[in-house]
Amino acid sequence: MIAPSILSADFARLGAEIDAVAGSGDGRADWVHVDVMDNHFVPNLTIGLPVVESLREHTGLPLDCHLMIEDPDRWAPGYAEAGAHNVTVHVEAAHDPVMLAKNLRAAGAKAGLAIKPGTPIEDYLDTLKHYDTLLVMSVEPGFGGQSFIPDVLDKVRTARRLVDTGHLTLLVEIDGGINADTIEQAAEAGVDCFVAGSAVYGAGDPAKAVAALREAARVARAR
Ligand code: DX5
Ligand code: ZN
Repeated sequence: MIAPSILSADFARLGAEIDAVAGSGDGRADWVHVDVMDNHFVPNLTIGLPVVESLREHTGLPLDCHLMIEDPDRWAPGYAEAGAHNVTVHVEAAHDPVMLAKNLRAAGAKAGLAIKPGTPIEDYLDTLKHYDTLLVMSVEPGFGGQSFIPDVLDKVRTARRLVDTGHLTLLVEIDGGINADTIEQAAEAGVDCFVAGSAVYGAGDPAKAVAALREAARVARAR
């Protein structure tokens, strides 16, 4: 699955930017990745609930909301109520991640747990039993256009193994620095869903970029 991140899109034309990856065929995004930042959990400020509500009205594509915010226990369920398909919170910010996952699901969304590059996965294996998605950050959260950190692929391999042996039931998502050069190693490590911001919206034709990333991942995963 490919999830273009609108962080790298033109914020004055968000609807049209999403439409550019909402056609048919391999250039159609599986999810639209929406980066919510509060200037506290990360040193950047982006968009919030009113924009997500408007995007939900605008597009039929599932919204994948990545909340880089403090106190997600309080704020994240609102994104589920707004119709997000998947709501991902950071384990470093959540106070009670198990209760939060239950609240997200009760509000009608899939629950996602994100871990920063320096956060080990081993401490959260029991917590992850309550989640539908694990988002492995492959850059420090906060900005698009950073370089991929290959060390995080060990966490992807661990998660892949746990899913394939039936110990966890979740999608493995990766976010940060994914492009034509880096997607193959991520796919080989076992990623299910690839977030790509600058590689999609920095390209002349976003749908073509989505199709190219999809094909590269497919080839690498089949190896
Ligand atoms: C960074 C965000 C990412 C960002 C990825 O904190 O979570 O979703 O948009 O951008 P690229 O693909 O350019 O690294
Ligand atoms: Zn993100």
